[in-house]
Amino acid sequence: MELRKSASPETEVVLPDERAGEVKRLLVAQRLFEDTIPTAFAGSSVEVHVRDADEPLGTRELATRLTGYHGVLSLLTDRLDRSVLEANPQLEVISNVAVGFDNIDVPVARRLGITVTNTPDVLTETTADLTLGLMLAVARRLPEADGFVRAGSWTSWKLSPSLMGMDLYGRTLGLFGMGRIGRAVARRAVHGFGMRLLYASRSPLPAEQEGELGATRVDLDDLLSAADVVSLHAALTPETRHVLGPNQFAAMKPSAILVNTARGPLVDEAALAAALESGQIWGAGLDVFENEPEVDPRLLAVRERLVLAPHVGSATLDTRRRMADIAARDARAVLEGRAPAHPVQA
Ligand code: DGY
Repeated sequence: MELRKSASPETEVVLPDERAGEVKRLLVAQRLFEDTIPTAFAGSSVEVHVRDADEPLGTRELATRLTGYHGVLSLLTDRLDRSVLEANPQLEVISNVAVGFDNIDVPVARRLGITVTNTPDVLTETTADLTLGLMLAVARRLPEADGFVRAGSWTSWKLSPSLMGMDLYGRTLGLFGMGRIGRAVARRAVHGFGMRLLYASRSPLPAEQEGELGATRVDLDDLLSAADVVSLHAALTPETRHVLGPNQFAAMKPSAILVNTARGPLVDEAALAAALESGQIWGAGLDVFENEPEVDPRLLAVRERLVLAPHVGSATLDTRRRMADIAARDARAVLEGRAPAHPVQA
């Protein structure tokens, strides 16, 4: 297999090893790891074009750029909405390098016969680790503690320092969404941190898992009023958009922490900023935002008990490499007429 720069400064082309019959073309919408495509497409007759860029194209540009392609390997910042898909009904596959696929209009893809794939499982434990990391960082005020030491403000050990935190041990964790990541968070919180567990989700856990975790399924209102830490693990859908807004923050304990490593628009960010400012809730740890990469200035202005991260839930090298590899292999499978390992069922 040959890897070379194409005439377009943005595009590298992996030439097919063999050209038998119609050559299928795949656009990789943004840069991956250098060896992902050569490894996943070794021996394939698929022609792969890699956009040598780390920024998404706008929808108009993407719609035009996809002309003549049979597949696209997308990141979650690539918006494959109705306009893009209807302009490209020749697409056979959209392979998303993410477990979430709210950047893709899946019903339209289905109507047009385009297979959509995602990357579940491989990022579950990594994202659960970051969720617990955010819980601890907020509860024990780690960024503030770090800033305090670096600023030279630490003059003596005090029994009652300004940076008093909150224990997680023995507290009640409320999980909204109990899919793979929710369950991985639950295991860590219950077995590692001795937390009690409430959850709200469309379907109940099997009885033996509920028993093993000591988990109780409740509705969201009861969860919000009882939980010390609320952590979100649901997909973004029209039903879950702004599932936490002013009324929900008003129902939470003033001592509660919110953690969101799922999708930003689950939370009404303006309402969250107001809840933090007014002390309606105690703190928050956010890895995702309503209008990424923009962050509401009212949130940026909150200096205490708010920890922000730039959507890095799955960002370890091993995990991100696996995600890219799975997506590439699934795109190849569809373009070679085989069933992908991770079709989106939604
Ligand atoms: C996903 O996969 O959906 C995460 O948001 C990024 O890894």
